[in-house]
Amino acid sequence: MTTASPGTSTAASSSAAASSDAAFLTDFHHVATFGATDNDGVDRQALTLEDKQSRDWMRGWAEGNGFEVRVDAIGNMFVCLELVPDAPYVLIGSHLDSQPLGGRFDGAYGVIAALFAALRVKENVAESGQKPRFNIAVVNWFNEEGGRFAPSIMGSSVYAGLFDLDEMLAVQDLEGTSVAEALAAIGYNGTDAPPEAISYAEIHIEQGRILEREATNIGVVESSWYTQKLDIDVLGEQSHTGATAMADRHDALVAGAKIVLAVADVVNEFADEALMSSVGQHVVEPNSPIVVPRRVHMVADLRSSDPDIVKAARDTLHQQIASIALEHDITIKVEDFDVRGKLYFPETGVELAEKAVANEGLSIRRLETMAGHDSVAMNHRVPAVMMFVPSVDGVSHCEREFTTDEDMIRGLGVLTNVATELVNGELSEDREGEVWVGKSVAEARA
Ligand code: GLV
Ligand code: MN
Ligand code: MN
Repeated sequence: MTTASPGTSTAASSSAAASSDAAFLTDFHHVATFGATDNDGVDRQALTLEDKQSRDWMRGWAEGNGFEVRVDAIGNMFVCLELVPDAPYVLIGSHLDSQPLGGRFDGAYGVIAALFAALRVKENVAESGQKPRFNIAVVNWFNEEGGRFAPSIMGSSVYAGLFDLDEMLAVQDLEGTSVAEALAAIGYNGTDAPPEAISYAEIHIEQGRILEREATNIGVVESSWYTQKLDIDVLGEQSHTGATAMADRHDALVAGAKIVLAVADVVNEFADEALMSSVGQHVVEPNSPIVVPRRVHMVADLRSSDPDIVKAARDTLHQQIASIALEHDITIKVEDFDVRGKLYFPETGVELAEKAVANEGLSIRRLETMAGHDSVAMNHRVPAVMMFVPSVDGVSHCEREFTTDEDMIRGLGVLTNVATELVNGELSEDREGEVWVGKSVAEARA
């Protein structure tokens, strides 16, 4: 009779892990072909044909691996595995949409890592015969990036009850196509009830350079920055670029250009790197070479760890924009948009990530997220854990975004550990929807 020695079974399980890692990398790099750009990026904006390709791939993967696919009314995709009838679900995931000419890793890494983490949970449950407390589902949130349809973090915010479903279905892109029409056009206008969440975990690229600089494997997010957008509508008067007297012009683009500079320069009123501020979107009308622009619509994005800094910058910009309007004798409307409070993640979740990293023999540090994430919305509804892997050079939202295969594999191991603890009941005792807005870490955790 032959019995497997412990040595043999360790060898067998480490070769199974290696082949699962290899399968993960193959799938990750395959998904990067949907919307691939010339310089190793992706352009896979929400509800485009490229987004549909990545969604169809995820559906095929799920069905091939014995998961059930649900699509809700805002187009969030849930890949569900029922382990305990009628129990709620641990959700893990991120987003497959990208910015225009964006990177391969932002979002897609978190979704594909979550698929493999869920598969490992499924296999471990089957092998061990131990019943977990909760079910597990991988989620591809609709429109995290907000490049085509604003605001960002849309699907998870609808799920978390922060945004109204009908209002979001009515949002239009710059061509006038609504979310509802775009969902129907690619067949992802779902009618399924989404799974009820008990907790949430997400892994993502850092998008900054702290982990790289400190040679640390994993970041765990303690809090998210205070962020807000300013929707700025500069309303001048259309006229002839050649024939109208200079003194008679009310040029929306000249006024708009001064606003762009004001938004960039306001950071100089604060300590280095304390405030992030840029105009991202900029639409000029009528955009003809022979016409003085009548309108410039722009969106400025202001972010800081300290809510008072964003509020002070906003006040300064309001004053400066009022003087620019006076100087050019034009109307400028400024509205607050997409304001997100500073938010803390549950300490128990941070500790859970630290334990998972220790189990994997890796290094970890706590940090804040400056970028927005679906976990920020989900943290309003259930306890959430947000983790990062290093980003080379700290760049993202561009084709140059990069994370090594080794770092992605490390993150997958940590996410699998965290997901295993969550299905076994970790974090479920935390108060539902516990959030700490606008306090210091010490106050929030007192
Ligand atoms: C999205 O990527 C954000 O940072 O808000
Ligand atoms: Mn992202
Ligand atoms: Mn992004």
